[in-house]
Amino acid sequence: MQLRNSSSRYGWVSIFLHWSVALAVFGLFALGLWMVGLDYYSAWRKAAPDLHKSIGLTLFAIMLLRLLWRFVSPPPPAPNNHGRLTRLGATFGHAFLYLSLFAVMIAGYLISTADGVGIPVFGLFEIPALVSGLPDQADVAGEVHLYLAWALVIFAGVHALAALKHHFIDRDATLARMLGRKA
Ligand code: HEM
Repeated sequence: MQLRNSSSRYGWVSIFLHWSVALAVFGLFALGLWMVGLDYYSAWRKAAPDLHKSIGLTLFAIMLLRLLWRFVSPPPPAPNNHGRLTRLGATFGHAFLYLSLFAVMIAGYLISTADGVGIPVFGLFEIPALVSGLPDQADVAGEVHLYLAWALVIFAGVHALAALKHHFIDRDATLARMLGRKA
């Protein structure tokens, strides 16, 4: 079992980070859509947003680790059969996934901190409200959070379809590498 990435495969740290982030993103999206529809008397009315924020802040920390790990152990180069356009598409696509994910999380933080109150994480500790009181902060951040979350999830779906196309149609190692197999 190889922890670091090499020139031919992803190591287990990157694989674990990739799939846990994917699970968290789709889970947070579903939880977010569900919780905004809860009525006033639901038992989850307060617990669901608390959970959403706690997981979101944990995801932020995981994404910082993931970025750091990318510098410590860079990902393998694209499989040999990827043409110039595919490589370019993958580079921009991955950059968009990283950027939109950070933007969604930062917008989410700004919604919660608009009134100057910190955010508890699983009831264990609190992340302070560093930015508050901007004009219409909660509303603007809320719109950005919602639309970017949709863009992120739709794009992640396209990214997953591309991975499946590589696997089942091109029959190359793109997806297998992200599942721990060697190219
Ligand atoms: C929200 C969900 C997802 C996000 C944010 C995401 C993000 C990323 C990013 C940023 C990379 C670039 C490698 C890296 O920097 O670690 C990557 C690679 C990859 N992802 Fe995802 N991903 C998601 C879901 C999925 C799903 C559902 C699949 C497959 C069904 C998938 C398959 C892959 C594969 C095969 C690679 C390797 C591509 C290569 O080596 O060129 N991802 N993903």
